[in-house]
Amino acid sequence: MVENQIQAHPERFRVLTGDRPTGPLHLGHLFGTLQNRVRLQDMGVDLFVIIADYQVLTDRDVADRLTETVEGLVLDYLAVGIDPERATVFTHSAVPALNQLMLPFLSLVTVSELGRNPTVKDEIAHSRQDAVSGLMFTYPVHQAADILFCKGNLVPVGRDQLPHIEITRSIARRFNERYGPVFPEPDALLSAAPVLLGTDGTKMSKSRHNAISISATADDTARLLRSARTDADCHITYDPVARPEVSSLVLLAALCLGVTPEQVASSVGAGGAAALKRTVTAAVNEFLAPMRARRADYAADLSHVRKILQVGNERANAIADATLSEVRTAMGTTY
Ligand code: TRP
Repeated sequence: MVENQIQAHPERFRVLTGDRPTGPLHLGHLFGTLQNRVRLQDMGVDLFVIIADYQVLTDRDVADRLTETVEGLVLDYLAVGIDPERATVFTHSAVPALNQLMLPFLSLVTVSELGRNPTVKDEIAHSRQDAVSGLMFTYPVHQAADILFCKGNLVPVGRDQLPHIEITRSIARRFNERYGPVFPEPDALLSAAPVLLGTDGTKMSKSRHNAISISATADDTARLLRSARTDADCHITYDPVARPEVSSLVLLAALCLGVTPEQVASSVGAGGAAALKRTVTAAVNEFLAPMRARRADYAADLSHVRKILQVGNERANAIADATLSEVRTAMGTTY
């Protein structure tokens, strides 16, 4: 439905999405969201990619090596095909007017609404902090500012982010009701993302050391895949429910080769886990090779990356200033 509307009128969509800079992006990100961003960009929507550097502080006390991680993220974006000529890549800490929206927005949500947010509850349960900070509790409101400062109306996210989009919609609606129409009520765009497991059979995650980064070397990739968990049945089949680890490797090879998982499974068949690992390693390394080459080219001159952020932040600031000025007019706070 929304896909048809994007096809017909890409210019009506401003897409805002992004990442917390907590480490290098991996294959889960690539197949889950990055490819979709590039696809939307290529369809002609106005794409904003936020690097949520303040949000890193939601579940930890200090953000280590943030500059390096942020620059690495930009390199990952460039590697996968996000084009800074068409897309705006920016860091929210560099956009003061965006952050100022948080104040009126906080007044539009209740403490009990924030307390009910299932994603925040889950993050609190897994936090590296002893106590819940005010930023952790209110970060969905900050995220609403991320989306609404540029009047983003479409937000491609995973299922875990849906509660935040719901809060964003409530904030937009309540603001408009109270002060007059300023903000769109954004829609989430859920991608049919394949579920890739990490090499240990649990959720692929940078903190679990089970993820293949876009930026990893071919050798590191081979090493990680060689150690991947499989099972005792030496005939390879695709059965995600009964054989999650083997099936995730089969799926990964299939995604990289552009064939179905069943095709991969039947071509490996009696070859067993060793043959499966050879197949998936070759497929992943071949698939990532052009991206890794592009990444290495950009990494050779970080001044280019810094320039991209500078230009993105300037553009984001101009838009945020204009929105804040509308907000001030609507609220009667222009002096
Ligand atoms: N919370 C998102 C994540 O953890 C990152 C993010 C921050 C974001 N601001 C956003 C995503 C705005 C979409 C829109 O992945």
